Amino acid sequence: MIRPRAAVERLKKYRPPMEGRSGKLRLDFNENTVGCAPQVVRALRRALTPEMLTRYPEYGESRITLARHFGVKPEELLITNGSDDAIKAICDAFVDPGDVLLVPAPTFPVYEFFHNVAGGAVERVRYDEQFRLPVKSLVTAINKKTRWVALASPNNPTGTEISKPDLRTLLEGAPHVLVLVDEAYFDYSGRTVLPWIRKYENLLVTRTLSKAFGLAALRMGFIFGNPELVELMHRAQNPFQVNSLALLAASIAIQHEGHVKRYAAQVRANRERVYRWLASRGIPYVPSSANFILTRVGERAPEIAQRLRAKGILVRDWSYDPHLKGYLRFTIGSRNQTRRFLEELEKHERLIETRNGTTAWRNFVTYSQTGWFA
Ligand SMILES: Cc1ncc(COP(=O)(O)O)c(C=O)c1O
Repeated sequence: MIRPRAAVERLKKYRPPMEGRSGKLRLDFNENTVGCAPQVVRALRRALTPEMLTRYPEYGESRITLARHFGVKPEELLITNGSDDAIKAICDAFVDPGDVLLVPAPTFPVYEFFHNVAGGAVERVRYDEQFRLPVKSLVTAINKKTRWVALASPNNPTGTEISKPDLRTLLEGAPHVLVLVDEAYFDYSGRTVLPWIRKYENLLVTRTLSKAFGLAALRMGFIFGNPELVELMHRAQNPFQVNSLALLAASIAIQHEGHVKRYAAQVRANRERVYRWLASRGIPYVPSSANFILTRVGERAPEIAQRLRAKGILVRDWSYDPHLKGYLRFTIGSRNQTRRFLEELEKHERLIETRNGTTAWRNFVTYSQTGWFA
């Protein structure tokens, strides 16, 4: 048996449930639940010719168009195969074995994943009980070995954002440490620090077309930063990392941003409805700036997720994280999808530990201490 690199040998085997999702109401991956702009599908159909498929992709023109759309210079943008791949690009260019990645916990696990593949070590700073980011602890945790800090804003799975003053403190407190702000859910929050890449040489920002744009299957992501950082990541990138169909879809999708804006507005309205539904039943949740909500349903969370799955509704059970036992995260979709989900959840209400406490309250954060029950 041929041995892998030590870093690969150390990797844990965990993978989220990624198969068998077709035909179900998929509220488990924070995707767009209704679909991309129809113009994108039409353009892809028209473009699918043998001639087009024989050619290797060309990036120059797309880079210019996309950069213009995002309000940056082409040299401030790297196009990646989904934003997962943007995270990999950071690790490929900047992480040596033993380097430290600092992340809040809980957060999107892919930062740690690629950092571990590169042989790096991870330090975590936990959100406090009210799911606020302890920025002071983050700054104090930074030392000589810290190579980068990864912050999703809005964060997955909490849906919370990092405030601009907090981010400034971090960027200015550690000018030699790379800081990634992952804006995968920007289309729902509407808040960005993208223009800051001109101000802070240690800032990288990522975006994706997988979420509100409804193009997760095509894998289209972006990383923004000052031209020197971008050039270093480009140097280490596979020359044909993104396929021509994804490039074409992106160029059409950005022309129909109105579709995304309308969808995001519907999601925000449905999110309010879900808040009211949860609050009226005493089910705690974290107010979210994204298209998903993290709720505490209690120790029978895995069973609730299973029962929903049996009815064709997928949600994400976060109980595998020792600090999030009893938490479910679910995506907010259209009004009808949201109604269907809540109607099904209601059938399992007796399994849910509510604030009013019909079920035992073991291992529960006390609500009097938490500001996040709205
Ligand atoms: C915070 C965050 N960043 C990045 C991604 C990855 O998205 P992509 O499909 O662009 O790789 C996700 C997907 O769940 C996410 O939640």
